[in-house]
Amino acid sequence: MSVTILGIESSCDDTSAAVIRDGLLLSNVIASQSVHEEYGGVVPELASRAHQQNIVPVVKAALDRAGVDKRDLDAIAFTRGPGLLGSLLVGTSFAKGMSLGLRVPIVDVNHLHGHVLSHFIRRKEDDEVPEYPFLTLLISGGNSQLILVRNYNDMEILGATIDDAAGEAFDKCAKVMGLPYPGGPHIDRLAQEGDAQRFKFAKPRIPNLDYSFSGLKTSFLYTLRDAVKGDPDFVEKNRADLAASLQRTIIEILIDKLDKAVKQTGVTTVAIGGGVSANSGVRNAVAEYCKAHGIKAFIPERAFTTDNAAMVAIAGYFKYLDKQFCGYDEVPFARVTV
Ligand code: KG4
Repeated sequence: MSVTILGIESSCDDTSAAVIRDGLLLSNVIASQSVHEEYGGVVPELASRAHQQNIVPVVKAALDRAGVDKRDLDAIAFTRGPGLLGSLLVGTSFAKGMSLGLRVPIVDVNHLHGHVLSHFIRRKEDDEVPEYPFLTLLISGGNSQLILVRNYNDMEILGATIDDAAGEAFDKCAKVMGLPYPGGPHIDRLAQEGDAQRFKFAKPRIPNLDYSFSGLKTSFLYTLRDAVKGDPDFVEKNRADLAASLQRTIIEILIDKLDKAVKQTGVTTVAIGGGVSANSGVRNAVAEYCKAHGIKAFIPERAFTTDNAAMVAIAGYFKYLDKQFCGYDEVPFARVTV
């Protein structure tokens, strides 16, 4: 019997809905919120208001594009956390209301599990998916984690950032360079024209599998501050080289711990996920590392690197098959790791 799941994602500033049938993606609609651009970061109150405006048309568009009638849904999966509480409340309440109206169960999904499981979204039957166990490098604006994935519901965090996330390092350094928020994609673009060896920035010395990016951020800031004293146009003249050198350093930090984790666990499959996994340099570096070490690499489609409901629907699909439903008294949560 076929199983059709509607996924709903509203943890931050993207309202998204997706339909998955028997593990195959039928639609994935994302409405991004441009209202935050002028504030240099996501404004929680504005985010939840925009979710309220977007949720009905986004869900309708996802069902229409999938060619699925809402009465054919078997369950509704929604992101329960972590994220912004006001934003999460919109998706959670909508999922509960719709499930009550349709008399189908709801399935709560941990947003981070969604990112990890995004590699199981298939567009056609023979699309390849990872085999357990595998290692995931989850890198976003809020997290930098190395996760050993033994099953869809059995994940162990081997290392995490002790301060800033990789995305924050990109965004904060980009801000120092006067680039718009979020700066990660701008650094990525500039880095492609720059000399990645031109500048040297500090790298952390942490013995275990944890990450740290605050020292790099400070070192970047001081380099610019000192150079600007001698030449006020320093940043303008060296934008591409600064971006390329910063990106190289972040990638070296990421790959160093990934390598340690691979050796420690003996896994033969590595996946990446989260917003920063859209970075061209990171994608190339992970692919090259895996090729050189005889490891199978799973690099997500760019559409699945940022927040999307397809990953919520696939995580919900696995839980549905195990009858892991959620009660109507479950509330969103702001913080948690996997
Ligand atoms: O997973 P995500 O969409 O949400 C949060 O956890 O916030 O990740 C957003 C992060 C931001 O820091 C953004 O700058 C970064 O992902 N990002 C990138 C790129 N695209 C998005 N960083 C570097 N290069 C990119 N191409």
